[in-house]
Amino acid sequence: MDIFEVIRKRGSVRWFKQDPIDDSTIMKILEAGIRAPTAMGMQQWFFVVVKDEKVREKVWKFLKKVHIFYYTRARVGSESFDQERMRKLQERLDKGMYRAPVYIAAYLHLGRRGLKDEYSEIEEMWGIESVSAAIENISLSAIALGLGTCWIGVVNFLEEEINEILKPPEGCKLIAILPLGFPLEPPKPKPRKGLEEVTKVI
Ligand SMILES: Cc1cc2nc3c(=O)[nH]c(=O)nc-3n(C[C@H](O)[C@H](O)[C@H](O)COP(=O)(O)O)c2cc1C
Repeated sequence: MDIFEVIRKRGSVRWFKQDPIDDSTIMKILEAGIRAPTAMGMQQWFFVVVKDEKVREKVWKFLKKVHIFYYTRARVGSESFDQERMRKLQERLDKGMYRAPVYIAAYLHLGRRGLKDEYSEIEEMWGIESVSAAIENISLSAIALGLGTCWIGVVNFLEEEINEILKPPEGCKLIAILPLGFPLEPPKPKPRKGLEEVTKVI
């Protein structure tokens, strides 16, 4: 697949086969991640890769819990999230949504600083952007290798809870967790707004 085909074929994957993934494949994907552009060349990313079965189970339980938090507490209109929708969501989660043979937690490590204190907000923004670029490289590499992933951002709602499980180095801010595995079904690319709606050419 050329790069455009990979991009076209990418779609979020939330249901995975539970077959393990070779270490060499995981490393190849992470290597692609760290080829991303990085503000000031600082490489302030840090990845926690979860393969251990017991820890994976904990991460999956956390992902279920934090998605329920998002839908019932955080999202606009969550007040009208009724019992029936809750039951359906819980059922899908319990059936294995987000359960994967590997999880990659992508962190921003602000231990190394490149900007003066007065510009710390910009430093953090650049850091988040750099880690995000790595996440996209990881997502596309997964597709290129027949795997799939989903960018899970709701993890930030209960960040401390997951950090107690993953124990990242001090000074790390969680950006996303990426479940990684062979998709149960090939990803279905979702439609996008037309370019004319989101572009201005001058
Ligand atoms: C910053 C960010 C946070 C996201 N958080 C979640 C999430 O917590 N759970 C989830 O299922 N999908 C999450 N997604 C995936 C989006 O829902 C998905 O990209 C969007 O619906 C478009 O679908 P596609 O990726 O298949 O094109 C997130 C995506 C981004 C970029």
